[in-house]
Amino acid sequence: MMAQKRILLVVGGGIAAYKALDLCRLIRRSGLAVRAVMTKAAGEFVTPLSLGSVTGDKVYGELFSLTDEAEMGHIELSRDADLVVVAPATANLLAKMANGLADDLATTLLLATDKKVLVAPAMNLRMWAHPATRRNVERLKADGVTVVGPTAGSMACGEFGVGRLAEPADILAAIEAMLQGVTALRLPEGAWAEASANGPRPLAGRHVVVTSGPTHEPIDPVRYIANRSSGKQGHAIAAAAAAAGARVTLVSGPVAIPDPFGVAVVRVESAREMQAAVERALPCDVFIGAAAVADWRVAEAAEGKLKKESGPRPPLALAENPDILAGVAGRSSGRPRLVIGFAAETSDVVPHAQAKLLRKGCDAIVANDVGLAGETPGGVFGQAANTVHLVTREGVESWPTMGKQQVADRLVARIAAMLG
Ligand code: C5P
Repeated sequence: MMAQKRILLVVGGGIAAYKALDLCRLIRRSGLAVRAVMTKAAGEFVTPLSLGSVTGDKVYGELFSLTDEAEMGHIELSRDADLVVVAPATANLLAKMANGLADDLATTLLLATDKKVLVAPAMNLRMWAHPATRRNVERLKADGVTVVGPTAGSMACGEFGVGRLAEPADILAAIEAMLQGVTALRLPEGAWAEASANGPRPLAGRHVVVTSGPTHEPIDPVRYIANRSSGKQGHAIAAAAAAAGARVTLVSGPVAIPDPFGVAVVRVESAREMQAAVERALPCDVFIGAAAVADWRVAEAAEGKLKKESGPRPPLALAENPDILAGVAGRSSGRPRLVIGFAAETSDVVPHAQAKLLRKGCDAIVANDVGLAGETPGGVFGQAANTVHLVTREGVESWPTMGKQQVADRLVARIAAMLG
């Protein structure tokens, strides 16, 4: 029989701490063992007695408890588990983790652990949106910490927004995925659990799949063919669709920008990986192909690094990549209701987009004047603004130059209208 896997749960001090009780119950019901550590502030919200009764184990709290250290030292505590989970992770706890502070048992074991760490943040929406918290979360992600949630909804403080602890069932799903070593699929950063306080969101209940960024086509293990796409427009569309209430899967090529909130991100490198990830993400109601997919790949990428010294200059034979957009649009069964593509053009933008609309079989093309941004090489790529035309079978809408997030918001509003 396989040994029972063990979770070390660090409970931070926030109103969501009471949900840690529910989480412990779910963890144990799924066959895992859980041991809890509380911060001092957590003790203001739940008692060691209640936590201990749901974990069925001793609850640890003070770093300098000699009896605890004699029984199980903090280093051992941090290494005895298969996975360390912080739920709820307060802004303060995230800040300490991001900076390597260790001034109590919870932060000390987080610094001492050699296991993977999952954090489930929960805090007031403004604290979550604060640049300091954003920085801390990005730093933790760069350190290899996985983040689940927070979600949007009404909060204990009476405000509405992003900051609620992910549902315990979603945290458990994240735990199980991590224990199984699933790394390719990033866990949802919040599922926009509730409808807006101002009425239902226009894309509530819809699944939207967006491709974004460039693709990297390997030449050998160290070299690749790429393009200048930054992913800004596609990521902005994913964020706008999530804000409109959709469940969003973002299939992203290699980019240097942060994941948008409320979106499940699947990271890929090559066009063929992107195509496979899109296939896995289907079915969906709306597919938006905003990625700059390489048309060509190297027919046979070398297994070892190509050496300058080893003979004649190697020829780069190219093979055509699959057209992901045309493939989704042409599906005989399970075609999304709306399939939307992008067209980056430098001249005759609208006629080219109209031809592309028919050739690819999609419902709309967002055509952008990539020649317009002019001075910088690569034009609109990587820039904040975009000048686009929305080309459908019904006609052409030319939008004024605006920020990529505004383009995204407007496109999402048009999508909501098209879905009716
Ligand atoms: O044919 P072209 O590359 O100009 O078409 C651009 C549109 O097609 C974009 O929406 C892009 O995401 C999509 N595309 C694709 N797969 C390819 C090439 C382009 O999905 N192999």
